[in-house]
Amino acid sequence: MNITILTLFPEMFEGFATNSIMKRALGKGVATLKVVNIRDYTKDKYGRTDTPPVGGGAGLIEKCQPIVDALNANKTPSSHVILMSPRGGTYNQKTAQRFAQLEDLVIICGHYEGIDERVNSYVDELVSIGDYVLTGGEIPAMAIADSVIRLLDGAISKDSLTDESFNNDLLEYPQFTEPYEYDGQTIPDILYCGNHQAIEKWRRKQSLSLTRKYRPDLFAKISLSKQDKKLLAELESDETPKWEKTALEKGKKFMKH
Ligand code: ADE
Repeated sequence: MNITILTLFPEMFEGFATNSIMKRALGKGVATLKVVNIRDYTKDKYGRTDTPPVGGGAGLIEKCQPIVDALNANKTPSSHVILMSPRGGTYNQKTAQRFAQLEDLVIICGHYEGIDERVNSYVDELVSIGDYVLTGGEIPAMAIADSVIRLLDGAISKDSLTDESFNNDLLEYPQFTEPYEYDGQTIPDILYCGNHQAIEKWRRKQSLSLTRKYRPDLFAKISLSKQDKKLLAELESDETPKWEKTALEKGKKFMKH
């Protein structure tokens, strides 16, 4: 997949592309990331890309010409062109999955006080990353590129993708690392029992519980299976359910503590 970012601040993407998982994924050719400086396309003799709004008002507005010329020089016939804007539909994991299917994604970053309205007619979609206003579209563009690239084959392990938050509209279950006890807090014994089915069941229960607690809006949208309802009912009781007791009993030999 090819991702092209049109921006007035290309330096902002240097750290993004040269660290951690993005660095590795781009190095492996999982995706290409091209950062284009919109200023390189301005025809203004002073190199300006913005100007005061017609009709008066605060601030400077980005002109059409540099953006549209940068876009035309860098898009392909198959490009999906998005403009980062607080006016857009709110980005989520489903949109990330949709973008990850694309061959070519072009992201335009707005900046300053706004962008000439006519730029909208050159884009396929406006995308917002949330109901708050940032100083520019660069951070939103990084959020999009990161969330899309990590979904591509070869970026990270397939297991990491199946278990993560928002898959099946549930938040991810809690994770722990050794040591068993840290500052008085211990790891749930069930994770040491060696019974993978029981561990999966416990994790599903935690996912359901966390989603209900932290994201009731998501929880309301899930269709619960019979098993899910049973697991949720178990949370209301103080007693350890039978399946968990059995798994703990049989798994005692694996427990070091
Ligand atoms: N530009 C400024 N704020 C933004 C937001 N919340 N999402 C996308 N682009 C933006």
